[in-house]
Amino acid sequence: MEKIKEYVAKQQQEVCAFLYDLNSLTAHVQTLLNPLPESVQFYYAIKANSDEQVLRALLPYVYGFEVASMGEIEKVRAISETVPIAFGGPGKTLTELKAALKHNVTLYHLESQLQMQRLNWLAQEQGKTIEVLLRVNPSFELPDATLQMAGKATQFGIEQSELEEILGELGSYPNLRVVGFHFHCISNNLREKTQIKAIEKYITTALQWQQQYNLELSTVNVGGGIGVTYQEEQRPFDWGSYCEQLSTLLKRFPMLNIAMECGRFVSAYCGVYLAQVTDIKSNHGENFAVLRGGNHHFRLPSSWQHNHPFLVLERDDWPYPFAKPTVKNAPITLCGELCTPKDVLAKGVTVERLSAGDIIVFEKAGAYGWHISHHDFLSHPHPQRVYL
Ligand SMILES: Cc1ncc(COP(=O)(O)O)c(C=O)c1O
Repeated sequence: MEKIKEYVAKQQQEVCAFLYDLNSLTAHVQTLLNPLPESVQFYYAIKANSDEQVLRALLPYVYGFEVASMGEIEKVRAISETVPIAFGGPGKTLTELKAALKHNVTLYHLESQLQMQRLNWLAQEQGKTIEVLLRVNPSFELPDATLQMAGKATQFGIEQSELEEILGELGSYPNLRVVGFHFHCISNNLREKTQIKAIEKYITTALQWQQQYNLELSTVNVGGGIGVTYQEEQRPFDWGSYCEQLSTLLKRFPMLNIAMECGRFVSAYCGVYLAQVTDIKSNHGENFAVLRGGNHHFRLPSSWQHNHPFLVLERDDWPYPFAKPTVKNAPITLCGELCTPKDVLAKGVTVERLSAGDIIVFEKAGAYGWHISHHDFLSHPHPQRVYL
């Protein structure tokens, strides 16, 4: 909070900013990596926050970066010509695949038969053989989580039954070396036990396919999806216990590399989003605070329909000759400055005291904040983006 206060004290205009603490990011990633079993190759999924400063801070620690577009490939290659890149995503175009080959992407996660055909064709033209994982949309049961990308009809991965047919015909893809499988099935799982159970199922299914189809299996990618608690009553994911259980599990499979590609759990904690209260009013019996900012900068709460956790930084300065509107011990809805009732960052949350001019400090805003938002809707000034 001290660093936030220092930043705020220097501002001449209404405060609207993301502050990212790079020291806390590197300390955090080390606490994640230290207890992981040796066979884990830990990628950072840069979609969560792909800022150059963040990538540079993580580069010395992570095994590689997971990307989902040509733009993301270029961002990684701008900071390192050699760091391993895993390229995922359901919509890889020919242009992107060409760029990926040019930029020496090390691993491809293929999500459909057409993606396999396209990459095989391109590799044939260039006289290359390319290592790929096939992304599975499994038929077995998966843990509960905020979002589920697989285990049901979605645009992601190859359905298990279709995949099994493809595995019987891998000779049709002579320029692809299928070295494993990719399972990114859920997002924001807060239960380490169910995560371990899912990983066990991913591995045993992959090994079964290895035997059945005589594959040279080296890698199972177990995805990201480790959750962050955005609500007070939630129990945080216990990373220490997860790593212990994972070590025990992986002792049974010493021949495998386990790839992991976490985004949210890596970068959420390093960032806060500050938005100054520009107005406080009551309408039809409810209180509203309007902020300098909103979901065009920080879309996560409205996208997930949750009340984002926040602190209030009170400001004493009030330059006007008229009274400062204040709400005390009452519920209030924190809204952004956009002309849409969807621009809500927390609804009906009780505050001890909130006045116009105060600053809302949204916590855990380092991942999927700025990077998933529609920045130019209504053409308000962008927030400052500060790296401490
Ligand atoms: C393929 C893939 N891998 C990894 C991630 C990162 O997931 P998380 O941020 O939940 O760890 C995502 C997120 O959308 C993804 O689509």
